[in-house]
Amino acid sequence: MALLKSKKNTTITGKSLNKLGTKPVNIKPKTTKKIINRYHFLIKCRAYIFQLLNLKFTKTDDEEINNFVKTYLKENMRNVNLEVNSEEELLNLRKNYQKNKKISSNDIDRLNFLLNFITEEIVDNGGLQKYQIASIMGQNSDRGGDSSKKLMSWILELNDSGKSFKDMSALEIGCLRVDNVISQHKYKKFIKSIERIDLNSNHPDIKKEDFLMKTLPESNEQKYDLISCSLVVNFVPDENKRGEMMIRLKKFCKNQGLVFLVLPLPCVTNSRFTDDELLVTKIMEQGLNFKLIKEHKSNKIVYYLFQNNNSVYNEKYLKKNHGSKRIIKNKPGMNNFCITFG
Ligand SMILES: C[S@@+](CC[C@H](N)C(=O)[O-])C[C@H]1O[C@@H](n2cnc3c(N)ncnc32)[C@H](O)[C@@H]1O
Repeated sequence: MALLKSKKNTTITGKSLNKLGTKPVNIKPKTTKKIINRYHFLIKCRAYIFQLLNLKFTKTDDEEINNFVKTYLKENMRNVNLEVNSEEELLNLRKNYQKNKKISSNDIDRLNFLLNFITEEIVDNGGLQKYQIASIMGQNSDRGGDSSKKLMSWILELNDSGKSFKDMSALEIGCLRVDNVISQHKYKKFIKSIERIDLNSNHPDIKKEDFLMKTLPESNEQKYDLISCSLVVNFVPDENKRGEMMIRLKKFCKNQGLVFLVLPLPCVTNSRFTDDELLVTKIMEQGLNFKLIKEHKSNKIVYYLFQNNNSVYNEKYLKKNHGSKRIIKNKPGMNNFCITFG
């Protein structure tokens, strides 16, 4: 399924994108799911092709990637009339082109062709914006809801049980809306300030910033008491970049601060490479020195709340034990989600 075409400043249904932060448009759940899945599929294929072609481009801004690919293809795409069944080739990408195997000049032509196919669909047709609209729709309460509702209920519980989590400075990574529960005035005494960032901002109060490129804090004051990272790690197409993101969560979180991590449930229940034990015990607790304090699994989503034990973490252990992916279990229909520290 190709992503539906849209004009630049309008949504699939033709409504203005300017008010997306407050007024989501209506897309059927089946369609949002298709758009989200398609977008994830395409960016994963793109990241893989980048690796095969040895293209080094670290930025994650949609427009910059687009320009980079266009410039690259202008210089390197020799054969534009190839007979390639792009959908089939993309589905079999990993099987047909294995990393570390030499690729022929014919392979390079085909990969360039695919890169062009992906880029046209993803960016020229409004890919990231459309993905975000679909994600906003996914946040509507009848479709899984705003994850910060869970976060704030936990913050209240913790305060009720005698722990003091008040006046917190928060960082919301991958923020699509400014009116989520975490932003409600009634929680002001818990959340003193919120910095909202996203790769693509659809509201003036959301800064367009890549967390992977965010300047590292030089002092404790520049760190956050609470970091929300909801459905973002699974968005990152490269497993080592996901590892980098986890390490950054550590570096940006104050001592005794909190990290709210949310993932699609299949990332830990149906992956060949990741399960709860690996993510929680080995990566977050043993590697990054966080402590799990709350956990909830719904039908589709897993929510974790971690507390930062102290600023020390064990990079050596992470590199040695989780530097590359290892199969935990393998059954038909499983996914390949993983986080590595290579
Ligand atoms: C599925 S949406 C999740 C939105 C929201 N947090 C939620 O829980 O519904 C993922 C968002 O993460 C953003 N994102 C992905 N990687 C990011 C990065 N490195 N820095 C900042 N935002 C990022 C994407 O642009 C996208 O808007």
